[in-house]
Amino acid sequence: MTCAAPTPPISCFALKISAAMPISRLSRSTSMQLPEPNPIPAAPRPGSVRTLAVTGGKGGIGKTNVSVNLGVALAGLGKRTMLFDADLGLANADVLLGLSPLHTLADLVAGRCGFPDVVIEGPAGLLIVPAASGRRHMAELQPAEHTGLVNVFSEFEHDLDMLLVDTAAGITDSVLTFCQAAQDAAVVVCDEPASITDAYALIKVLARERGVDRVQIIANMVRSAHEGRALYDKLSRVCERFIGDVSLNYLGAVPHCEWLRAAVQRQQAVVQAFPGSPSARALVEIAQRVGRWQSPAAPRGHVEFFVERMIRQGAPA
Ligand SMILES: Nc1ncnc2c1ncn2[C@@H]1O[C@H](COP(=O)(O)OP(=O)(O)OP(=O)(O)O)[C@@H](O)[C@H]1O
Ligand SMILES: [Mg+2]
Repeated sequence: MTCAAPTPPISCFALKISAAMPISRLSRSTSMQLPEPNPIPAAPRPGSVRTLAVTGGKGGIGKTNVSVNLGVALAGLGKRTMLFDADLGLANADVLLGLSPLHTLADLVAGRCGFPDVVIEGPAGLLIVPAASGRRHMAELQPAEHTGLVNVFSEFEHDLDMLLVDTAAGITDSVLTFCQAAQDAAVVVCDEPASITDAYALIKVLARERGVDRVQIIANMVRSAHEGRALYDKLSRVCERFIGDVSLNYLGAVPHCEWLRAAVQRQQAVVQAFPGSPSARALVEIAQRVGRWQSPAAPRGHVEFFVERMIRQGAPA
């Protein structure tokens, strides 16, 4: 499953490139209405968007690459997908795709632009919300700004099938809150002791402190499909024995792949730059799996609910 130095990919998985949601559809949601005295809606309406937070505890294990490629693949498969770069301190989803956003959430919150100015359209029609730059963190927002942000997000939720959230490394409050608020959390893990330990610590905190009872696992940078599955089995056994109240689900493995690194250098998603490469094929398979998930029945994962919880609990950079 490990892939060698780049040679032209043989079989190419043809991604269906579609403008999943023309950005103009967002234009009805203009700027944040500040300072509106509206309270944050208490009971969210049911929505059909699925939210998946991509996390992992340890830094540099491929969370952003997984998020970006899942996003592009899902959009290519016809799912109206948005990627929210929630790495508030070191945002880089846009860099990975060679995009240069003019505005970020920080500008929106400060009233310098409207929501359509913040959302940028990436490959295959993937919509990207670039992170606030880190100069100002979400915990500092005023209640009126909270309301405005919730309203802005809730306006477009019915235009989306998937909201992916790329979190920062670590088990900070911010990361935990994004994972808790999303309907599913996918923990990216590599077959090395520090990554396994950090993934375990993250799952434990999510289960014990945030009541998360289901975690998806993506093994990254593995040398074989067998290694990915064995890694999942190992983590699953430890979690079952020492945590208990959490079930793990294996989403799949992404091989260590020079094509992915070459795509990073090109500032492109590997699923587009080298669609026939082992990592691209694995990522598309995972996207297909995620794309088959049913719409949520419960409010967890609802965009409005997601943002509300994120803000209520604070999301420090
Ligand atoms: N499957 C893979 N094969 C080869 N290299 C990979 C793979 N996945 C990730 N990488 C490399 O690992 C590095 C880190 O990836 P990425 O930025 O996605 O990690 P991250 O977990 O988001 O990091 P951070 O914690 O800093 O946000 C990148 O340089 C990328 O090229
Ligand atoms: Mg990252």
